Amino acid sequence: MPHAHARPLTAPASGPLKGVAEVPGDKSVSHRALILGALAVGETVVTGLLEGEDVLATAEAMRLLGAEVERTGEGAWSVHGVGTGGFKEPARVIDCGNSGTGVRLIMGAMATTPIAATFTGDASLNGRPMGRVTDPLARFGAQAFGRSGGRLPLTILGAEVPVPVRYETPVPSAQVKSAVLLAGLGAPGETVVVEREATRDHTERMLAGFGARIGVEEGPEGRVITLGGQPELRPQAIAVPRDPSSAAFPVCAALVVPGSDVLVPGIGLNPTRAGLYETLREMGADLSYEDEREEGGEPVADLRARFSDGMRGIEVPPGRAASMIDEYPILSVVAANAEGTTLMRGVRELRVKESDRIDAMAAGLRALGVEVEEGEDWWAVHGRGAGGVPGGARVEARLDHRIAMSFLIAGMAAAQPVTVDDAAPIATSFPVFEPLMRALGAQFRAENR
Ligand code: S3P
Repeated sequence: MPHAHARPLTAPASGPLKGVAEVPGDKSVSHRALILGALAVGETVVTGLLEGEDVLATAEAMRLLGAEVERTGEGAWSVHGVGTGGFKEPARVIDCGNSGTGVRLIMGAMATTPIAATFTGDASLNGRPMGRVTDPLARFGAQAFGRSGGRLPLTILGAEVPVPVRYETPVPSAQVKSAVLLAGLGAPGETVVVEREATRDHTERMLAGFGARIGVEEGPEGRVITLGGQPELRPQAIAVPRDPSSAAFPVCAALVVPGSDVLVPGIGLNPTRAGLYETLREMGADLSYEDEREEGGEPVADLRARFSDGMRGIEVPPGRAASMIDEYPILSVVAANAEGTTLMRGVRELRVKESDRIDAMAAGLRALGVEVEEGEDWWAVHGRGAGGVPGGARVEARLDHRIAMSFLIAGMAAAQPVTVDDAAPIATSFPVFEPLMRALGAQFRAENR
């Protein structure tokens, strides 16, 4: 379902793609920088913040909860925090737009402060499960009120007398883990989160940077994260790295568009985020890491991707799913342009993202002439080889930025143009996607309406 101001966009065969693609700041890190900045005492200065709709919604939420949040320049933001436990009751409903990360982390951050806050979002977010966060928050003493089914809109009444919690996450989710840790900041004693599979660890790293007492151990049950409650968080200077999940789009476009050679500099290759790049190399992609270095404690490299004739489908190890969970849509486009079958297992979580991403990609790829099989937690794409995707269809983005971007890239490598019914959601995570891709050689056409 497109939204009220749907913006159809068409990608015809384009390229070769050439040049340097400077992708914006990491979405996960940007949300966390604003939220932890709002919980610290004093001024946190952030550079390289992603100024996409999702993150801007989180900035507004932090203002409603009492922090001073100000934009001081391009990507430069200042946050004057209120200290842990210092949030005030918001005067109006907090609208997190399209952002699951925003709403789930903010619910966690306010759940151990005795205030009430009501959360809502767009049609996509209001259809996503929130019980995975409200259940553990209830253990701290917070209450959630809403219609049955655990969907937004929801009101959270923060715990009057919070108690610390030990919680084993039932699904591999950095959002759930982070919500529990942020709630733990407001509880006395130690909060413990156990995750069977490692998910992105930006919250743990950033909490340590802000001076929280946090320890991580690998045990037989998985990763055990222990956080000391009610710390005084020290404000930080945070340089947000560029987003590997956004970098995936120009990188994969270069791999599938003949004659391309694209450099994507300064990409964070934190192992909890870099699974796609490992997978692409196993498929035979001409993808190199240049100038590998460390920045702000994170491994970083410039990614260089060139058109790769003869990539082969592989079975993606399920244990890698968490480290590339947002990248399966664009991987499936590369898979369609590879030889043989790409099998993706252990990916049930894809069904509860901004859209049911297995269903959305399968439907669209089939419309483009690609054979796809799917089950509840797996799917398989039967590749047609380089340049072998027929295209020539209009597909639904389903209010999902990554679905929209994936199909625009599919169109750039297909025989006939591909139209997405609504490119507007791209602004949630990658507001400069269109100009950036055009500068490399993409020839998107907006529909005359
Ligand atoms: C995110 C975690 C992932 C990911 C999302 C960002 C985060 O979601 O899909 O885009 O910043 O913590 P889940 O925690 O639901 O897997």
